[in-house]
Amino acid sequence: MVQADLGAVAAIEREALSSWSARSLAEELQVSQANQGVAESAEKEILGWYACREVWSEAELLKITVKKANRERGVGRFLLGHLFLELQKRKITCLFLEVRSGNRTAIRFYEKNGFLQVGIRPGYYTDPPDSALILKKNLS
Ligand SMILES: CC(C)(COP(=O)(O)OP(=O)(O)OC[C@H]1O[C@@H](n2cnc3c(N)ncnc32)[C@H](O)[C@@H]1OP(=O)(O)O)[C@@H](O)C(=O)NCCC(=O)NCCS
Repeated sequence: MVQADLGAVAAIEREALSSWSARSLAEELQVSQANQGVAESAEKEILGWYACREVWSEAELLKITVKKANRERGVGRFLLGHLFLELQKRKITCLFLEVRSGNRTAIRFYEKNGFLQVGIRPGYYTDPPDSALILKKNLS
C-alpha cells in the first residue's frame, strides 16, 4: 500500500464495522515493522487491503477488509495468500489475529484459510460488547 491508495482504502474502511480512519491509515504507513497490501482489479480499482505488524519471528494481522460489493469472490483469500508468502520470505513462523466472536463470516473465512483458535479474551470489545477469539496460523 502506498500514499496514493489511502483514499480508496479509507472508503473501503468506511463501509466496515470497527473501521480505521483516514488518519489511522496514514499513520500505519509510517510504522516500521508494519506491512500493508492491497488487491486491485484489472482496472486498478482497489478491492481490499490488509495491515500487518511483525515482532521478531511472529506477526499480527491488524486488519483485513474487502470492499462490500466484492466480497465472497476470493479477494480476501488472495490477500491472505499474498501476506503468507511475504511473511514466509522473511522467516516469520506464525501469524496471530483477534476477531469478534460474533463475526461468524470472518471466523469462517479464517478457518478456511488455515487459522486455528488458540485463545479467547472475554469482554475484549466494546460498542458493541463482544469477546475476542485469538486465532493463529502456522507459516513454517
Ligand atoms: C472477512 C472478509 C475479509 C472475507 O473476504 P472475502 O473476499 O469475502 O472472502 P473470500 O471470498 O476470499 O472467501 C474465502 C473463504 O471464506 C469463506 N467465506 C467468505 N465469506 C463468507 C460468508 N459470508 N459466509 C461463509 N463463508 C464465507 C468462504 O467459504 C471462502 O471459501 P470458499 O471459496 O472455499 O467457499 C470480508 O468478508 C470482509 O471484508 N468483512 C468485513 C471486515 C471484517 O470482518 N474483517 C475481519 C475482521 S477480523
